[in-house]
Amino acid sequence: MVTQVEFDPAAFSLSNPDLIADPYPAYALMRSADPIHRSAMYGGSWVLFAYEDVAALLCDPRLTNNRATLPLKALPAGQRAEFADIVPVLDNWVAFFDGSRHWMRRRHMNQVCDLFTKDVLTRVIQESIDMLLDRWNGRHDVIADFARPLPAIVITRLLGSPWEDHEKLAAWSDRIAYLFGASALTVDDLRAGQAALHAFASYLREQAHEAMCTGATTMVTRMTSETTREFSFTVEEACAQAMLLMFAGVEPTRYLIGNAVHALDASPRQRRLVTFSERTRAIAVEEFLRHGTPVQYIGRMAAEDFTYKGHRIEAGQPVLLYVGSANRDAAQFPDPEVLDLTRRPNLHLALGKGPHNCIGAFLVRVQTAMALHSLLTRFPDLRVVKETAPISNTNLGFHGFNSLTVDTSAQRPDDQVGLDAAL
Ligand code: HEM
Repeated sequence: MVTQVEFDPAAFSLSNPDLIADPYPAYALMRSADPIHRSAMYGGSWVLFAYEDVAALLCDPRLTNNRATLPLKALPAGQRAEFADIVPVLDNWVAFFDGSRHWMRRRHMNQVCDLFTKDVLTRVIQESIDMLLDRWNGRHDVIADFARPLPAIVITRLLGSPWEDHEKLAAWSDRIAYLFGASALTVDDLRAGQAALHAFASYLREQAHEAMCTGATTMVTRMTSETTREFSFTVEEACAQAMLLMFAGVEPTRYLIGNAVHALDASPRQRRLVTFSERTRAIAVEEFLRHGTPVQYIGRMAAEDFTYKGHRIEAGQPVLLYVGSANRDAAQFPDPEVLDLTRRPNLHLALGKGPHNCIGAFLVRVQTAMALHSLLTRFPDLRVVKETAPISNTNLGFHGFNSLTVDTSAQRPDDQVGLDAAL
């Protein structure tokens, strides 16, 4: 684990293994020593750590969201040609458009996808939670047995695909996510991401074709057959959005739930706030997002040359906005290292800010609240097992656990029992 004293700002990288389990001391040092950091990552990029800078640049039109070529930049120029075919697929993602072209696509998705319909969402989420937790008894890996499959099943169902396919879709989506989470990408990583992208696209295309023949509906067929102010997607574009929803939704939700379970274990007196009422739970979820920020940075590219606080940023340079650090900035949050499930106001940046803020924010909030509520009401004595070390994700794009063992039948500590009795 890194301490402020021994960390060299030049060693900051998404793939630095020393930072992965606990990047927060390094962020604190970067905020005080080098908050607008020039990095060698992606052939030369800027990394910003302070809340004020991250919040300002998230809404700055001099930066573009079109970063479909970012993974390729991790390779030497001579090795990029083999992967040129992934760029047109990624280029279709709503997330990579700017201005009115972005807004038109986003509005269309808002209107035709069930991501935003509370009744549909709560039914699908609760059925998926119950299906998973009905199998629970004793010790479990809360990631493998709950936090990983849950969002995958939910999004698979919202796409209109058979839920049993969730594992396959999540595996493809993990390989695509890796391209945007790690900075030290190898040719093999790019090949795995490329194969996953093509396999996922052809799965969705085939399914949409079948649905069109039988008159069934999937998210892709809705995005292509329905129009919003005369705008509609082609099949290729709709498949790209469906992949994006899976990629963008599965990995961070998994980490958010895992990080919350871990943080609650270290702070048992606050557990009751998760089960007490819908309102206390909603406030708590915001603090889990701030304190355990799953998406650690948001990427942009400079659309033009410009100067920001004395730093000359050149067109085409990647700009990585570290929301994971901004969310722990004492200039914005009193006692930022403390998990305070009653914290208000809580203007965290975990779901972004501005026109590109997370399109799945409603789903994230509802799903996380329901997941934690079900876990803690079904298993009030749930504890993290100390003898089995948790396993962290391997890059600093996404922060959380790939494995976290819990015991549903462990004894609660005395202070928690006392608190429950008092409430
Ligand atoms: C804990 C879970 C999640 C976190 C932390 C998260 C975080 C984020 C962040 C930080 C952004 C802003 C990116 C930017 O400014 O460029 C974003 C955008 C986006 N998110 Fe999420 N997200 C989560 C879950 C989801 C889910 C469940 C979905 C959908 C099923 C989703 C779909 C998207 C999409 C499509 C965008 C791009 C929006 C646009 O550019 O207009 N996310 N998310």
